[in-house]
Amino acid sequence: MRLTLTALTFASLALAAPVLAQDAPTGDAAAGERVFAKCQTCHVIADPDGNVLGGRNAKTGPNLYGLPGRAAGAYAGFNGYGDDLVALGTNGFVWTEADFVAYVANPAAFLKEKVANNARSKMSFRLTNEKEALDVWAYIASLSPAAAAAPADGAAPAEGTATN
Ligand code: HEC
Repeated sequence: MRLTLTALTFASLALAAPVLAQDAPTGDAAAGERVFAKCQTCHVIADPDGNVLGGRNAKTGPNLYGLPGRAAGAYAGFNGYGDDLVALGTNGFVWTEADFVAYVANPAAFLKEKVANNARSKMSFRLTNEKEALDVWAYIASLSPAAAAAPADGAAPAEGTATN
């Protein structure tokens, strides 16, 4: 079931967003659901109708629904973003697996590297275990619609990064 879904998702992504080339998640979504326990004090995964798919409706951090392919700092219902994460998204950055893993390992360092030396993060939490990060990405992706992997509103594709 999940394999079929992933294959379908990947196929539709290839059609819908050739530039972004979102790869299928490499982690284990079931294991990622357990990892999400660490995130759910601050984050929820809830669809546009308000159905809570993951977590318990926490609002300290942005809703992570549709994160794969979503512009950084761009969830419309969240007012608590820091300027640097918003600037990153405004510059055309969209979330991919590799960047997500780097971000959650150290959000402040990630923004310093991507935005500016004095960039600051409003997310103090760190998830340094790479396997857990890959698994929780897979979990978030499993609850997100395939369409979310395309740029939401004509956002420019992320600038090419030399390495990931
Ligand atoms: C203590 C609260 C807290 C915890 C725990 C937390 N986060 Fe966050 N998270 C935030 C806040 C606040 C932001 C907004 C950061 C900013 O604007 O600089 C954020 C932002 C993010 C973003 C960027 C979203 C976007 O719209 O661009 C991702 C991805 C993310 N968190 C993932 C996670 C994951 C995965 C976990 C668990 C492993 C987690 N966070 C745990 C508070 C938290």
